[in-house]
Amino acid sequence: MNWLAERPIVVSFEVTDACTCWCKHCDHGGPRDESRNLKPADYRRYMEALRPCVVQVSGGEPLMREDVVEIVRTIKNGSGVPYTILVSNWSNMTEAKYLALAEAGIDQFSVSLDFPDERHDDFRAYPGLYRHLKDLVPRLAKLGRDDIVLNSCITSENVHEIGALADQAREWGVNLCYSAYSARRTGCRDYFLETPEQLAVLNAQLDRVEARRDESNWIVNAPTTLDATRRYFANKGMPGCQAGRRFLVVTATGELQPCSMQFQRYDLTDRSRMISEFTSNNRCDECYVSIRSYLDKSFPQLLQENVREFLSMK
Ligand SMILES: C[S@@+](CC[C@H](N)C(=O)[O-])C[C@H]1O[C@@H](n2cnc3c(N)ncnc32)[C@H](O)[C@@H]1O
Ligand code: SF4
Ligand code: SF4
Repeated sequence: MNWLAERPIVVSFEVTDACTCWCKHCDHGGPRDESRNLKPADYRRYMEALRPCVVQVSGGEPLMREDVVEIVRTIKNGSGVPYTILVSNWSNMTEAKYLALAEAGIDQFSVSLDFPDERHDDFRAYPGLYRHLKDLVPRLAKLGRDDIVLNSCITSENVHEIGALADQAREWGVNLCYSAYSARRTGCRDYFLETPEQLAVLNAQLDRVEARRDESNWIVNAPTTLDATRRYFANKGMPGCQAGRRFLVVTATGELQPCSMQFQRYDLTDRSRMISEFTSNNRCDECYVSIRSYLDKSFPQLLQENVREFLSMK
């Protein structure tokens, strides 16, 4: 119904712009003015208007919000839908918070991991983060909920570690999803894969990942998505973006944005205008982040691949 009615399939609520980290590849980092942020109860109005199938609770760093559990509860409103993903660096995660969020309705915990060792701390400018994840992730995985997915953004810095990140996911007993660096966030091309050598490493590493798939779907990306990721880097872009139509962002203060890297802002009541003004004329091809990779596909392919990707991990 959302597809036909041109309502978004996925809505990403960026519940804060503030962050605990200062990652090299990102335009967030550190404290921000939080005084105008939406309150938990405000999210109901957005859910009623947008009626998404999948929600991402993201940021900035969503766990910086003391009321994040209440936000999730408002989004879920006591029902099983929408499928709700918390996208976080987990610096502020604890066992108690994980359980409270799961009880409130988080279906999938997406945990960013850029390196399978302390280089993660350096990349994210957060000393001790890797050690914290190494302690917490396998411990919570052992609770058996099967709802944790490591989220690794491929950059020129970690392209050699693609296979080692898969080893890390296996060792910790969790799932893994790859994403792709975009220079659009910061304007910095240093982390993009530019050279034939970097592309050869990408292809060799992804070939080995493909060979490790099994029926448990612990590699959450579909094979077609990883193939498209190769093309995105090789062609230095990926046309056909449906930002604003198939997915959109709700900013911390409640404006609609087509995506997290396009800053044209619209009122909740102006979604049709966003589609006619932005989406219909959008030629931007500068990212291939997960939200795009799920939603650029045809409707039958979306159903066949992505519903399975979202709903059936291990
Ligand atoms: C913007 S963060 C927000 C949530 C949380 N702070 C975190 O890091 O998971 C969401 C995801 O975007 C990724 N990201 C940040 N900068 C990026 C970029 N330039 N290109 C692609 N992905 C990026 C991060 O690695 C992270 O997995
Ligand atoms: S990637 Fe996430 S953790 Fe890193 S600065 Fe951006 S918002 Fe913060
Ligand atoms: S390709 Fe689409 S989602 Fe990516 S930055 Fe451009 S408009 Fe946003």
